[in-house]
Amino acid sequence: MASSKASRRAGARRPRGRGGFLLGVALTCIFLPLPLAAQTGEPSPTELIESLLAGRDPVGGPFQLVDHAGRQRSDADYRGKLLVIYFGYTFCPDVCPTELQSISLALDALGPAAAAVQPLFISVDPERDTPARLADFVSSFHPQFVGLTGELAAIRKTALAYKTFFARHRTASPNYPVDHTGFVYLVGKDGRYRGFLPPGSSPQDIST
Ligand code: NI
Repeated sequence: MASSKASRRAGARRPRGRGGFLLGVALTCIFLPLPLAAQTGEPSPTELIESLLAGRDPVGGPFQLVDHAGRQRSDADYRGKLLVIYFGYTFCPDVCPTELQSISLALDALGPAAAAVQPLFISVDPERDTPARLADFVSSFHPQFVGLTGELAAIRKTALAYKTFFARHRTASPNYPVDHTGFVYLVGKDGRYRGFLPPGSSPQDIST
């Protein structure tokens, strides 16, 4: 419905009352003690989330990544589509699969209108998320999904542009977790950022 759509999309600019709630929800995927994050010289998850909620700084912008077929891709390749962007990783035990499932159900609910939408899954774990692995992962959710990976620096730049925090756990185990914030970003057909949806949004929230 138009009214709820307008209020939700306006969330980035009017965080009052929802800010505390969103901060709590957004950090559910985060297990890293904040002081440790601060030592790296990167913005902390709190700083990034607050920046996103306040809506003062620009969000999004150009990216250069590699898709799940191994092709170089830039944001410009997707002009003319409404982008639904989610940052995560294929080894994520629960949160990422749940979000991708919600986005997939939202696309199904749109019916033919889903053709105007391009869902993008951007890996925050390029060490393990090869194009081949991403191809298996995204195709298990929805045929329209494009998985993007690339050099860590390119991913870091893209994530920071979207105020997404991520940090891999420094452990010798090959099953290391990667902490990350879990907003769903909407980018218009003109490439301009339109707003975000909080982690845990329902398929209905996403498709309206
Ligand atoms: Ni995840």
